[in-house]
Amino acid sequence: MTADQVIIRRALASEADAIADLYVASRRDASAFIPTVHTDDETRAWVSRYLVPRLEVWVVESAGILLGMMALEDELVDQLYVAPAAQRRGLGDRLIAHAKKLRPARLRLYTFQHNTPARRFYEARGFVAIEFNDGSHNEEHEPDVLYEWKGASASTAHKI
Ligand SMILES: CC(C)(COP(=O)(O)OP(=O)(O)OC[C@H]1O[C@@H](n2cnc3c(N)ncnc32)[C@H](O)[C@@H]1OP(=O)(O)O)[C@@H](O)C(=O)NCCC(=O)NCCS
Repeated sequence: MTADQVIIRRALASEADAIADLYVASRRDASAFIPTVHTDDETRAWVSRYLVPRLEVWVVESAGILLGMMALEDELVDQLYVAPAAQRRGLGDRLIAHAKKLRPARLRLYTFQHNTPARRFYEARGFVAIEFNDGSHNEEHEPDVLYEWKGASASTAHKI
């Protein structure tokens, strides 16, 4: 896979099942860091009825194969998952770079405090932890951390 072969584009409604499969596989592979509270069928229903139709969902594909997904809701990166076999090849980086281009002022996201690989990934891309929560506001009841990235336009605006 070369960089040229990778395409980032909006998800199609017809891809909800493929996106759900990727999401489930990626979360299962990261189960040491991400607790599971829903069955696969519940997740599939949530992806097709809520995630894809309601949020701004982007996918990364290569040679027609779905390798990663990202869901944005305003300035929040609500979901970011790369297929286990496609991780550590720069696809997550491409998706986050795309999100920064779409929301150049600011991005925010939550991740679990225990998800050290994801935290390292975000911190290496300029995200700063701004709030630590005890987990009472997420359905996994797992302590999480709110990260923020501020783009150049945000810091310039503050200086004026
Ligand atoms: C977190 C996640 C989205 C990152 O996606 P990814 O495609 O693996 O990300 P990248 O390949 O761009 O970068 C991951 C690491 O691989 C490294 N890397 C990138 N290309 C590489 C290559 N060719 N060879 C070796 N390492 C490489 C990057 O430098 C990065 O290291 P860092 O985390 O220390 O900065 C992905 O691991 C994932 O889906 N995890 C499980 C689900 C999850 O935790 N999601 C986040 C929930 S908030």
